[in-house]
Amino acid sequence: WHLHSQAADVVIERSPTFSAKPEVTTLVFGNVFTDHMLTVEWTGDEGWKKPHIRPFHNLSVHPASSALHYAVQLFEGMKAYWGQDGRVRLFRPMLNMKRMLKSAERACLPSFDGEELLECIRKLVETDQDWVPRSDSASLYIRPVLIGTEPSLGVKKPSRALLYVILSPVGSYFSTSTKPLSLWADPKYIRAWKGGTGDCKMGGNYGNSIYAQYEAAAYGCQQVLWLYGEDHQITEAGTMNLFLHWINEDGEEELATPPLDGVILPGITRQSIIELAQKWGEFKVSERSITMAHLERALKENRVMELFGSGTACVVSPVGHIMYQGKVCTHPPTAHSTHFVFTANIQPGCDLGSCVFAEFAPPLA
Ligand code: COI
Repeated sequence: WHLHSQAADVVIERSPTFSAKPEVTTLVFGNVFTDHMLTVEWTGDEGWKKPHIRPFHNLSVHPASSALHYAVQLFEGMKAYWGQDGRVRLFRPMLNMKRMLKSAERACLPSFDGEELLECIRKLVETDQDWVPRSDSASLYIRPVLIGTEPSLGVKKPSRALLYVILSPVGSYFSTSTKPLSLWADPKYIRAWKGGTGDCKMGGNYGNSIYAQYEAAAYGCQQVLWLYGEDHQITEAGTMNLFLHWINEDGEEELATPPLDGVILPGITRQSIIELAQKWGEFKVSERSITMAHLERALKENRVMELFGSGTACVVSPVGHIMYQGKVCTHPPTAHSTHFVFTANIQPGCDLGSCVFAEFAPPLA
């Protein structure tokens, strides 16, 4: 973070007009944006320039920009909520800053000071704080993006970049709200592989998934369950990390999720669920490999208590059934209890002021 780009230097230009805020019940994920956005430019020669909070606007980038040609880009997803004390808080935002820095290194995009960027984001959210939905079922989704704007077709480290942050009031990620999801699992498509970028938050990981997503839909399923390896390890589903709450092969009650072995996105909701469950101390919590054979056997033997996905956008979403090798494995519909326990602990319905996490950004005044 260059000398010139401290959060204290943020230049704020307020929008002369304000858009009408949508009804919370009509929100579709990511379709509506707030009145302002943050932009910070970077050049290899001068480093970071002054951050600007300006009215929401279209970007003007060189047509050869490396983000457009070679996917030299990354993004983050975080949320702001109203607490029951009437103050706005971000959910564990320093973890997003850390992950963003890791993605920047892998993408050969410039590094920055996470605390300074977070303070700029805080100022942006403060500017648009009337857009944070006052609702238990909605929040303000914060989307930081860093793109290479190198005006050249050479495949190389960009000498120019643009960091920007946009805000979107959101409700449920899935149109079916919190109804159990249906997943389609077929090893012919692979989301990520060891040595790749699946453990970084980069647009290419998601853009690549859309084709398979349509095939899943053709089979009547909502999301793709991504498998990995000859043994069909379960990795992620759509835009979510996956958790299995079950009685494992050794007869132990366990909350299991695939380990961060390079193909898994290190989700902040994932980390939060692991930490919460460890704190509860009620069952074993493991980061371990789970194969489709493990899951099929457990479903057959009625050992699955809950299968669910987690993510910033989807929060916690239960899985109802999986289509795999021409068969549908159904998870007993009675067993969606964990969903409510986890949801109650990390959604805004709970009193965030007394939430177990100490890493909320300070509330906005
Ligand atoms: C998030 O959960 O924040 C995500 O990044 C998912 C997104 C691609 C919609």
